[in-house]
Amino acid sequence: LTSSTPAKPHTKWSDKQSKALADLTEEFTLSTAQLEHLTAAFIDQMQSGLAGDHKSSDLAMIPTFVSGRLDGQERGSYLALDLGGTNFRVCLITLKGNHDVEPNSESFKVTEHLQEAHISELMDFIAISIKDFITREHISSKIAKHRSNSNTLELGFTFSFPVTQTAIDAGMLLRWTKGFNCPGAVGSDIVQLLQEALDRKEVKVHVAALVNDTVGTLLAHSYKYPNTFIGAIFGTGTNGAYVEATRSIKTMPTPTAKEMIINIEWGNFDKDKRFLPVTPFDNKLDRESINPGVHVFEKMISGMYLGEITRNILLHLIDRRLLFDGTSSQKLNAHWSFKTEFMSQIESDTSPNLTSIAQILKQKLEICSKAQIDREIVKAVCELVGKRAARLSAMATAAVVRKGLSDGGHLAGDGYPLKLSEKHRVFDTAAGVNKSETAVEKVHERTDSAVVHDGNLIHVGIDGSVFKLYPHFEERMVEGLTELLGSRAKDLVPLNIAEDGSGVGAALAALIATKNAVHSR
Ligand code: GLC
Repeated sequence: LTSSTPAKPHTKWSDKQSKALADLTEEFTLSTAQLEHLTAAFIDQMQSGLAGDHKSSDLAMIPTFVSGRLDGQERGSYLALDLGGTNFRVCLITLKGNHDVEPNSESFKVTEHLQEAHISELMDFIAISIKDFITREHISSKIAKHRSNSNTLELGFTFSFPVTQTAIDAGMLLRWTKGFNCPGAVGSDIVQLLQEALDRKEVKVHVAALVNDTVGTLLAHSYKYPNTFIGAIFGTGTNGAYVEATRSIKTMPTPTAKEMIINIEWGNFDKDKRFLPVTPFDNKLDRESINPGVHVFEKMISGMYLGEITRNILLHLIDRRLLFDGTSSQKLNAHWSFKTEFMSQIESDTSPNLTSIAQILKQKLEICSKAQIDREIVKAVCELVGKRAARLSAMATAAVVRKGLSDGGHLAGDGYPLKLSEKHRVFDTAAGVNKSETAVEKVHERTDSAVVHDGNLIHVGIDGSVFKLYPHFEERMVEGLTELLGSRAKDLVPLNIAEDGSGVGAALAALIATKNAVHSR
């Protein structure tokens, strides 16, 4: 079975069931032409975002003030803090040079209460956890081995929300995402809020750098593969960061470096739904979410939402008496009760009687799926939702690669085996779209067969539970990338997991920041 072959039912579905599934398949399947079309819209929005035209772009395209290249030989020990989901982590990261890292970390739960508490309460809790970690792990003495000039520990902070940065160690929160909603934070400087809490709690730590998780992932991957071009997250949320030529960043008045990492905040792509093929199930989810009308793209891709889309579809089928004899359960009726991890387990079940699916339905959702047919339908629905997510993820990745290869882009030039050629027109058929035609540059492999070596591959460092754990996600993404970037996309644009992107990346950002601070003194 390839990922594009829908699982064949073993049982005979009724005509009504087959028709309902065929309709859903049509709604959820994205053709290559649709992906092409979305790619063009995505690049357009990247360009408008870089030009500072936020009326015509939903992509924030945030300059991160992280520039310069890593070579994997950097050394030192730094604290890292990673906040962006239901856990936060405090880490001690030792960069050992020679592309080698020694991580040491501890996780703490961000309770539902803390996710909506006043920001000072959350920051105080974090400060105390950092203090405990430092004491328990005897960090001060460990770090003192590497740092002789100060007894203040340097910390890199991975904060995985949209922040407009004004320096590597300063940035204002634009909006909360992924279920967080702490009052007192939007519009404030996140570094200052954390530093104040550390000072209040008398923790001798200096917040040296603030990075998004995508930026951390890119940096961490660069420690292994110095020419990494993209850092991406497919987890609770989704987003990407990439290296841009600073002359293309019109929102930076006086560029000081040749290139800079941009945090795209791609979760917010096409928030007005002009291009994305959103279904009523997506709209329902969006309306009932904590942040309706924004991050619509993220809501079609990431782990926080896929289960809920699936739940909406299952209820739709139940209400039409096409599933579980028309009977739901209290559990399944409850918002967010169908977790994305259930989808992973369901898609993994290849047993003849789909026994794990029966178990999940029973144990997690109190549904008794006596009939095999019910389990097959549930699996088919998960496949549709999971596959669409992977193809949209491929689209965003391919768009960033094409943008990089285009004129003025960081990858423009002769060295890469992939290059842009042949502008071609994509006729825009999506309903209600106000542009009738979009020019897209297609990517082609060079015919002069440029030598392929590690240095001219377009490396993508990835982190996040959906990419790491969802069955077939990577394979489906590669399939989409191949449609958009050519037959050798798998080799020329390698997707790899960036180990501990947020922790190692934050440490690297702290290193970059403290180096720059020394230089500018
Ligand atoms: C959300 C956040 C973004 C983050 C992503 C992945 O989209 O807005 O900043 O990078 O989730 O965690």
